[in-house]
Amino acid sequence: MLTIAVSKGRIYDEALPFLAEAGITPIDDPNTCRKLILQTTRADIQLVIIRATDVPTFVEYGAADLGIAGKDVLIEHGADCLYEPLDLNIARCKLMTAAAKDAPAPSGRIRVATKYVKTAQRYFAGLGIQAEIIKLYGSMELAPLVGLADCIVDLVDTGNTLRANGLEPRELIMRISSRLIVNKAAMKMKHQAVQSLINQFEQTLAAKNHDA
Ligand code: ATP
Ligand code: PRP
Repeated sequence: MLTIAVSKGRIYDEALPFLAEAGITPIDDPNTCRKLILQTTRADIQLVIIRATDVPTFVEYGAADLGIAGKDVLIEHGADCLYEPLDLNIARCKLMTAAAKDAPAPSGRIRVATKYVKTAQRYFAGLGIQAEIIKLYGSMELAPLVGLADCIVDLVDTGNTLRANGLEPRELIMRISSRLIVNKAAMKMKHQAVQSLINQFEQTLAAKNHDA
């Protein structure tokens, strides 16, 4: 049996075609059913439905053999403890700094609101900028508007969320997409099953790239 960890929402939605091509269709729909373990049309594969930020943890500890997680979540978690064999090129966005529209670039020690504390710390340290990082769990865009922070580090796709809140994107930190991740022990102990799944996902990716 292989267990794959996936989060509900955009990653689940965009992962479905990869799973379907490998003959994996969940029996229940996680959007309408409260089950956290989903059986699939393949008796040897089940899904566990968890928060996006928990996916690396489940895979690291072997509670799931494989998972699909955003690169943002992986760099924040630290991915040394996991294999990352495939960029699925789904849930694409950018990790950026953003600040109030037309606000002057902050100087000296700055305050940054984000849920990506370690990544932001590393980014500003790399630039030689002294930054006090304020951990938030959501609605980061509010922080510069109410004087909590000079800027934020958050994900940007269309830019609509920033615009709607009077902010503008500033510096690109990293391009983000979701990756297939594998538990290190599962890669050895269940090599054939894991490798076969990686190969199937790879073929789907190649076909998608060919059609694009
Ligand atoms: P959690 O529930 O753990 O707080 P979340 O609410 O960030 O996670 P999602 O919004 O489903 O969960 O995001 C999952 C992943 O999708 C993110 O880690 C990121 O890689 C990617 N992502 C997030 N926002 C966007 C977006 N606007 N466009 C494209 N991809 C995105
Ligand atoms: C994500 C992210 C940004 C937004 C960016 O939020 O946290 O707020 O998308 O996308 P945009 O540039 O296209 O507006 P999400 O939609 O996942 O909602 P969340 O805050 O509930 O995570």
